[in-house]
Formats: sequence, structure tokens, C-alpha cells
Amino acid sequence: MSATARKTAPMPDDIRAMKGGTPIVSLTAYTTPMAEALDAHCDFVLVGDSVGMVLHGLPSTLGVTMDMMVLHGQAVARGLKSAMMVVDMPFGSYEESPQQAFRNAARLMAETGAGAVKLEGGKHMSGTIAFLTARGIPVMAHIGLTPQSVNTLGGYKVQGRDAHKQQVFGDAVSVANAGAFAVVLEKVPQTLADEITASVPIPTIGIGASAGCDGQILVVDDMLGLFTAFKAKFVKRYAHLGDDMKTAIAAYAADVRARNFPAPEHVFADAAPKKT
Ligand code: KIV
Repeated sequence: MSATARKTAPMPDDIRAMKGGTPIVSLTAYTTPMAEALDAHCDFVLVGDSVGMVLHGLPSTLGVTMDMMVLHGQAVARGLKSAMMVVDMPFGSYEESPQQAFRNAARLMAETGAGAVKLEGGKHMSGTIAFLTARGIPVMAHIGLTPQSVNTLGGYKVQGRDAHKQQVFGDAVSVANAGAFAVVLEKVPQTLADEITASVPIPTIGIGASAGCDGQILVVDDMLGLFTAFKAKFVKRYAHLGDDMKTAIAAYAADVRARNFPAPEHVFADAAPKKT
């Protein structure tokens, strides 16, 4: 299935059915214009809680709220026609109990029109994933490096090396058994990502994982060079829009100070031009 050939957005089951086929393409978006730019190219678009760091200048994703996810989810939904939208559940909105997770996931689905929610966590979240999927909420799981747990993981480190390999592998099996329709593998060693991809019946979506995953995702502002506060090894820069932006803003400031802007073509005459 190619996003360009499709007329209606895929459902989570369509994404699940892409396991082992043409790689699933995904990027994050937080605004309508970005969603419009991604729509024809992506199978699904993630309204990631990375929005907190990328657009709101927060130091981590921990300060992202439900209201922020609803607002950005609604903005992205306005820009999508053929890609499915997945919205992240923010830190503190699902960990307490399956009931709390259901309340907040239902709000995200109802108020944004998302096709699914994503939540972070492996084995310990599998009860919640089963609870949500049994009640009509498709769940994308996110394991390996889970940025909402940065404080207990000791930083943004690779996960699943050495003694932790079995733990990450077990997480993948648990979330698949619990009913997740896909699983994001963030910052796990390539061989482990390949083993998980070969072992679980749901698509693996890699970010800093392996080209052998069933799909890939990146933060769009990272790959466009718009968010440059830091660059992870797994990010490939496809453009340098941040540099272009700074050059354009400096040129505008220089034009204004030199009275070169506005030029005659940007201003209005006393009388409206006559229509011929
Ligand atoms: O918040 C996010 O952007 C994510 C990633 C998987 C890209 O969770």
C-alpha cells in the first residue's frame, strides 16, 4: 500500500497488515501546514509529545499536558486526508491505572479524531494496552528508549544492550500479546531490532533501530534541520531549513534598517488602479 495511491486514511489494522511488506513511512507533525506537507508521503503521522521540546522549548517531554496534545492533534487533523493520525499520550496521563489511561485516551480520540494513541512502556504497560484495545482504543506501543522515563533510565541512552537485551525483547513480545497494533523501537541495537522484527507479529517502527524494521519514524523538525538544539546519531538531516530561516530573517532585518523594504511593489497608491 502506498500513501500516494490511497484515497482514505488507513486504519490501525491496515498498518498492522503492512508487516513484512513495503516499509511503513512516518514522521511527526504538530501543525496544520506540516501535516499538509506530510500527508501524501506518510502512512501515519504522529503527533508526538516531542512537541514539548521542539515547539514549546521544554527541557524534556515531561511537562507536556493533555491540553497540549489535544490542541496539536486538532491542528494536525485539519491537514491530513490520506495518512492516519496517531497521538501520543503525555507523561502522567496513563501510568496510574488502566481506567485513567482509558479516560485520557478516549478524550484524545474524541477531541482530535486520532486513529490511535501511542504510549510508552513494555511489559509493565501490557495490562493497560489490553484494557484499552478491548475497549475500542487502538494502541501503538513505544519501547527501548522511552523519553518520558529519562530520569529512571539515566539519560537518553541506547537500551537493550548486554543484560538488558532479554528485557527489551520481552517488552516487545508483551505489548504484541497485549494487542498493540504496532510498536516503536527507539534507540535499540540493530541486531536486537532485527530479532524483534522477525519475532513479533506486529510492525516494528524504528527510530535509531534498524533499516530492517517494518517502518521508520523521525521527528520532522530534526530531519528538516529546524530543531538544532542537539542532533541524535540516528537523525539524518534531509534539509537545513533552520539555517535558511536565519538567513532570511537577517536579510529582512537588514532591508528594514536600510529602508529597502517595503519596496514600491509592496505599497499602495492613493487611488485604486482602474480596471481595464
Ligand atoms: O514524541 C515523539 O516524537 C516520539 C517519536 C517516536 C518520534 O515519540
